[in-house]
Amino acid sequence: MPSATNRPTNRKVVLARYVTGMVGPEHFRIEEEPAREPGEGEVMVRTDSLSIDAFIRTSLNEVEGLHQQVPLGGVVVALGVGRVIESHAPGFVAGDAVSGPLLAQTYATMPAAMLQKIDDALPLSTYLGVLGLTTGLTAYAGIRYVGDVKAGETVLVSAAAGAVGCIAAQVAKALGARVIGLAGGPGKVAFLTDTLGLDAAIDYKNEDVAARLKALAPEGIDVFFDNVGGELLDIALDNIRERGRVVICGAISQYNDHSHVRGPSLYLRLAERYARMEGFTVMHFASQLGEAGAQLVQWLAEGRLQMPEQVDHGIDAFPDALRKLFEGGNTGKMLVRP
Ligand SMILES: NC(=O)c1ccc[n+]([C@@H]2O[C@H](COP(=O)([O-])OP(=O)(O)OC[C@H]3O[C@@H](n4cnc5c(N)ncnc54)[C@H](OP(=O)(O)O)[C@@H]3O)[C@@H](O)[C@H]2O)c1
Repeated sequence: MPSATNRPTNRKVVLARYVTGMVGPEHFRIEEEPAREPGEGEVMVRTDSLSIDAFIRTSLNEVEGLHQQVPLGGVVVALGVGRVIESHAPGFVAGDAVSGPLLAQTYATMPAAMLQKIDDALPLSTYLGVLGLTTGLTAYAGIRYVGDVKAGETVLVSAAAGAVGCIAAQVAKALGARVIGLAGGPGKVAFLTDTLGLDAAIDYKNEDVAARLKALAPEGIDVFFDNVGGELLDIALDNIRERGRVVICGAISQYNDHSHVRGPSLYLRLAERYARMEGFTVMHFASQLGEAGAQLVQWLAEGRLQMPEQVDHGIDAFPDALRKLFEGGNTGKMLVRP
């Protein structure tokens, strides 16, 4: 247990400038301070891994975005996993593995009530990936509870080689659907078909998506799980089947300019085809996440789910890792290991 005189140094990523357009290292600075001693009910956690999530970008605008804003000089939001190194909270002891909103820093001192203990039989990063709130659980909730995907249906997933998309596509496969992925570049398309076993994949950066989709699904698609928005959403709406479902998980193509979000122009297809479009956040399904997690654990144990991790090392790598999400520089779950 660290004493008052030998507290570790906490290195944290703070917001130096509000972000307009593409996020990059110029918007942040790294600050150092002695890690704070935990008060009553608090623990000190050494960060093992931080989850690089698209939502982080939406908290860095000067104007309010989708999520709570980070103030100038504030520590950037991030979910993470780590180990308790000092506890003043009942039920938590040094060595416990935990997950929660650790923020972008190497040590977090925070109320234990904000953390969940996790089972370290699995690699800790599993709780940010396949079992992560913003990753596997989001994907499961969107495919099962919003999309209501059924065996034999045709499902299209955008950003399918990213973290959420990769699990959404595999969950749809596990439910017996035929799954087509959208991703940027031939390497990602090969990953989707050869490694994840999707039925087909379209390289939206180099192929005519509308023509390829018509060829692959001449009868249309039953479910579109959308992570991207913009033009791809319109193409999917144009191909939605009668009684189809469009699941709005996110719209990463729109996050860099939140005040000028481009909405779909082909939404009348919903009326023509008695289809629906429904958005969600994972927390709308808080009461079902236990069941969702149990199913994901089972499929993981059966080898039916895989999640490649892309790990950047050192807290200084955090800003650039975040930028990669918006440039397609990641395959699978993007993590920073401080
Ligand atoms: N509803 C919820 O509760 C919830 C929770 C968590 C996440 N989400 C959403 O899930 C989505 C995926 O997030 P994630 O954290 O898992 O990130 P991710 O998919 O691991 O990474 C983002 C991917 O999006 C693609 N992309 C980026 N900019 C694009 C653009 N302009 N056009 C097309 N594709 C683009 C890139 O892949 P390519 O190389 O293929 O372009 C990139 O790899 C986001 O929209 C996020 O907001 C929603």
